[in-house]
Amino acid sequence: MTNPLFFASLSIPLIAIPLLYWVYTYPKNKYKQTNLVLYVHDYLTGDDKSAMTVAGKEGPTTSIMHFGTLLAHDDPVTVGPDPKSEEVGRAQGMYINSQLDGKALFMIFSVMFTDGEYKGSTLEIQGADPFVLKEREFSVVSGTGYFRFVRGYGIMTTEFLDIQNLRAIIKLNITVRHF
Ligand SMILES: *[C@@H]1O[C@H](CO)[C@@H](O)[C@H](O)[C@H]1NC(C)=O
Repeated sequence: MTNPLFFASLSIPLIAIPLLYWVYTYPKNKYKQTNLVLYVHDYLTGDDKSAMTVAGKEGPTTSIMHFGTLLAHDDPVTVGPDPKSEEVGRAQGMYINSQLDGKALFMIFSVMFTDGEYKGSTLEIQGADPFVLKEREFSVVSGTGYFRFVRGYGIMTTEFLDIQNLRAIIKLNITVRHF
């Protein structure tokens, strides 16, 4: 008669190996996912002007609608579409018109949180903005503080546009994963 302990000893590695594998790999795959909806107020005119063109084919005053124009911005970031809603940060960086027909921008900016639960942290945003489209997807390449090691994407939509005065309110719907 075979000793039942023999079979029991055989089954230990069968259980232990998958268990160890799970223990070692599980925490690495764990991430948090955060969704943020923010509104950026990008105004090229008015008392609350927050953006300006700085270079272009006809000098600093070239329209942002022309290929090659560079724009610097320090736009308020609020929790709602209303400019009077709570300001939680600033969108600081630049846009460059980078499509020959003028219909798309390349953007690179930081969302610097100055208030709210992410105060002191930043999100780094980079991507194409073919602004003629209703929805534009961009990437979130990294972040600092609470957002260290983040990666993600966002959907950008124009909530309000006054083309004459070049004043726009842009909605950013951001989804990031981090540890
Ligand atoms: C934000 O985008 C996600 C998809 O990434 C969508 O499921 C969600 O409804 C959007 N939220 C808002 C408020 O637009």
